[in-house]
Amino acid sequence: MFYPVPANKALMERPMETQLFWDRIAPKYARKPVDDPDAYEEKLALAASLLRPSDRVLEIGCGTGTTALRLAPSVMHYTATDGARAMIGIADAKLGPGAPANVSFHHADAGDQIAGAPFDAVCAFSLLHLVEDLPDVLAAVNTQLKPGGLFLSKTVCTKAAAWPIRALIPTLTALRFAPPVTPLSEAELVRFLKDAGFTVERKIHLGTKRMSPIIVARKPA
Ligand SMILES: C[S@@+](CC[C@H](N)C(=O)[O-])C[C@H]1O[C@@H](n2cnc3c(N)ncnc32)[C@H](O)[C@@H]1O
Repeated sequence: MFYPVPANKALMERPMETQLFWDRIAPKYARKPVDDPDAYEEKLALAASLLRPSDRVLEIGCGTGTTALRLAPSVMHYTATDGARAMIGIADAKLGPGAPANVSFHHADAGDQIAGAPFDAVCAFSLLHLVEDLPDVLAAVNTQLKPGGLFLSKTVCTKAAAWPIRALIPTLTALRFAPPVTPLSEAELVRFLKDAGFTVERKIHLGTKRMSPIIVARKPA
């Protein structure tokens, strides 16, 4: 099943420098090994246990599509979007013989309305700390979920990092070694989710890093 995604307002309004950052690093990002393979496998297992075979899923900020291709066999259809055209180009190149046939990749901002909505579940892995307007993106996710739908996210909460790291982030961003990051604590992230109308069901920390909670949230039925 193919859901066409129209060019859309949020993507066009996105700061050009942010788009260029992700386009520039996409080939390097694709080659980078997963940081903590055990934690990554645990995250996939958790996601697969929460998704149902009948689900139509949207993943926002899908990067080069690795996670989408791993989770797609657990669901009916998996639509994966990213704001960087270069990331989507790499993801698209992974489709074809041997790849799950129920995945489609599209160039879209996390705040865009995606054709095919409402979805049964939305996933956002390593994304929410990177978006320019978190309430706007959460509102878009909420709108695109069915009542009772699952919102599964993993977010870097840099306020939990040691102060030298926190202090370094703006410099790395200014030098274009890192993208702009919204400093968040886990409690603030939970507050943003609740303010957007989600019920937070579980907070899970995988691996050794404590600053990237996986949050299982739901749009009330
Ligand atoms: C750290 S990477 C994570 C990629 C993937 N989710 C993963 O877990 O490997 C962040 C991704 O979010 C995308 N991104 C950042 N801001 C975005 C936005 N406002 N809308 C859509 N994608 C965005 C970037 O292009 C990049 O591919």
